Amino acid sequence: MWIAKTKVELRARLDAASRPVILVPTMGALHEGHASLISLAREKAGTDGTVIVSLFVNPIQFDRAGDLAAYPRPLAADLDVCEARSADGVFVPDDGEMYFPDRSVTVTERSLSTHLCGAARPGHFDGVCTVVLKLFLLTGCEAAVFGEKDFQQLAVIRRMVRDLDLRTEIIPHPTIRESDGLAMSSRNARLTPEHRADAPRIRQALLTAAGKSDVASILRVAGEIIGGSSYARIDYLSLVDAETLAPTENLAKPAILACAVFYGEVRLIDNIAVARAFP
Ligand code: PAJ
Repeated sequence: MWIAKTKVELRARLDAASRPVILVPTMGALHEGHASLISLAREKAGTDGTVIVSLFVNPIQFDRAGDLAAYPRPLAADLDVCEARSADGVFVPDDGEMYFPDRSVTVTERSLSTHLCGAARPGHFDGVCTVVLKLFLLTGCEAAVFGEKDFQQLAVIRRMVRDLDLRTEIIPHPTIRESDGLAMSSRNARLTPEHRADAPRIRQALLTAAGKSDVASILRVAGEIIGGSSYARIDYLSLVDAETLAPTENLAKPAILACAVFYGEVRLIDNIAVARAFP
């Protein structure tokens, strides 16, 4: 497995790479969720294709300096995961390699990103779109894998691909969970033992609420279960149209119940498709 730290090294590796190239963009601190994305990329690329994992904690998508500073960066362990899942190459640029100090061009998605995490984290999806477009262009990948845990991110990236005529196929991957239902996240490691023990209520809340038949009950039940914790603080809890991501009251169309919950400084997100929407 090769490791490229610069764009020049990456270009040299790619000139020699066999197609298709499939990219798995990550910010490192890899867990089983990321590892499953790499395995899916490997499956799609076949033995002849090239699987590239990018490890880059993208500074321009963080809205809180503390969150960026606290983001874990266990490089040696991450390289082991990439190797174990048969990635062909890893791209690990530093901030200076990715961004000019006077950079002045940004990709902005103006509709889907106004809801949910986009409303709660101004500028976040500009940062995501900008780095993902750069990674697509730098690797020239035919396809890239994204997790459904960040379903708004997946939707925004699909929109960017559609609106900018990018030729990268977007491959979704279902959310991987701990055995108690908590969605795997690099941020879980920062939870205190008490918060970690409490956090599976997020999944329980979404599962219970998704079984209800009307919008008011769905939101009330989820809010009660998460709000029943003395540790959890709801950032948002919203039922949205699966296509537009705007709040919806219409259960005849596919809908997603999504939330972001703070445990201390740690912000966790999760989502579930509402059962009646997908018969
Ligand atoms: P990161 O949070 O590291 O996630 C990288 C990819 O792993 C994303 O596609 C995310 O949806 C997926 N992922 C994370 N946890 C998962 C889980 N439990 N199950 C399945 N997939 C999971 O998302 C980002 O990085 C960044 O925004 C990035 C796209 C790399 C741009 O900087």
